[in-house]
Amino acid sequence: MRIAVVGSGYVGLVAGACFADLGHEVILVDNDQQKLAALKSGAVPIHEKFLPELLESHRGHRLTFSDDLHEAARASQAIFIAVGTPPTDRGDADLSYVESVAREISGAINDYKVIVEKSTVPVYTSEWVRRVILRNGADPDSFDVASNPEFLREGTAVTDFLYPDRVVVGVDSERASSVLRQVYAPMTDGSYYKRENCIPEPDRAVIPPPLIATSTKSAELIKHASNAFLAMKISFVNAVASVCEHVGADVNQVVHGIGTDTRIGRRFLNPGIGYGGSCFPKDIMAFRSVARECGYEFRLLDEVMRINEDQRQRFLRKVHSALWTIRGKKLAVLGLAFKGGTDDIRESPAIGIVQSLLQQGSQIVAYDPAAMDRAREVFGNNIAYSSSPYEAAHHADALLILTEWEEFANLDLDRIREELKYPIVIDGRNLYDPDLMAAEGFTYYSVGRVASHPDGVPTAFVKNGKKA
Ligand code: UGA
Repeated sequence: MRIAVVGSGYVGLVAGACFADLGHEVILVDNDQQKLAALKSGAVPIHEKFLPELLESHRGHRLTFSDDLHEAARASQAIFIAVGTPPTDRGDADLSYVESVAREISGAINDYKVIVEKSTVPVYTSEWVRRVILRNGADPDSFDVASNPEFLREGTAVTDFLYPDRVVVGVDSERASSVLRQVYAPMTDGSYYKRENCIPEPDRAVIPPPLIATSTKSAELIKHASNAFLAMKISFVNAVASVCEHVGADVNQVVHGIGTDTRIGRRFLNPGIGYGGSCFPKDIMAFRSVARECGYEFRLLDEVMRINEDQRQRFLRKVHSALWTIRGKKLAVLGLAFKGGTDDIRESPAIGIVQSLLQQGSQIVAYDPAAMDRAREVFGNNIAYSSSPYEAAHHADALLILTEWEEFANLDLDRIREELKYPIVIDGRNLYDPDLMAAEGFTYYSVGRVASHPDGVPTAFVKNGKKA
């Protein structure tokens, strides 16, 4: 099928490359000339496993790049809108890019087309898109608007796209449903997974994935509710972790105990310094705002956000209780990305924590396997950058782990201890076992677990001078 994908950001680029891998003819449209030139010349703008391979094999054949939305829309049967929906000052989603794309598509409708929202948008967006297209003169029988939310995660985006738990299509007509079923047929009939050169199957893959057809409004809500639920799981476990710190329990044991209940599940229950990224923070605010506009005060979401913010403050308090004063201290920071496996630092809790520590007068030496260039755009020369965790640790007063990179879970602990001025590790991602760290000679703080000390005397998290 001929498909246009409008917007070559994270979702658009991955969706375009994956649709091409499924065998479709894809035109990826963007109005950013620099980005287009880079994509045409073979650049891969985001750090994403398997994306370079997909772009390399389909670029110029089944995947082409263009700035001509009108032509791309005329040539395609399905047009996926994957442009940005950034937050406004009020916390709701700015849909002006979606509107302007809808306006332009209107004039390009020459035969039946399905216009598909792929960006994360509030409920009612599909109705507005339909209205805008009609207002601009399109024949009501010549198009349908559908919603096809995307559930991919950064870092595993290609695999998530091609091996989803489910494909959700929100359609209000049989015609639109049939077009979207054709788009995903290579996945839902299983033929893609039989190909020798398909992207490798991850653990827990559901093959073939089910296609869930709903109304457009339900599909829009499924996306917001999914992200809100996942963020709620993270805030829930972080709140449980805080209770664990106060009573001296171990949150990892608690999570194992509750997560093995299949009704609850173990995934997305990793405590830490809170969720970040370009999706959860923005989408929770947007969902709360949509609910409010519809007359429902979704206070649970306020609490999810409050707990998330509190996690950073709690981590900063741990740094204080480990080091007493911060001014002039040299701190080694491992991890700047909002999570492991990506170079994305948008809304990264690590960035917020480093900013606070700088304000308090510490010197930061940071290392991240992928996000250093992006971090330079934020911090410039206000922090130092190192080429390895060991170089960062050299003569530092303490080591802070802020991102759950696999590399940071496998450090050479002897080397780290030798490099550090004091063997203090404050781990915001629970990558190590407290007893092991104590045995290795570290004073070790983590989240939701009692701090451990080489002399065996547990140092509980100290709050307001009282031992918790
Ligand atoms: C999230 C969703 O997981 C995707 O399903 C969705 O498609 C995407 O948003 C989106 O709306 O586009 P993503 O933002 O890439 O994906 O990252 P996640 O893997 O969900 O992680 C989000 C944040 O939560 C990270 O900061 C991560 O460190 C944190 N996290 C995650 C935890 O603190 N604990 C966990 O157990 C899991």
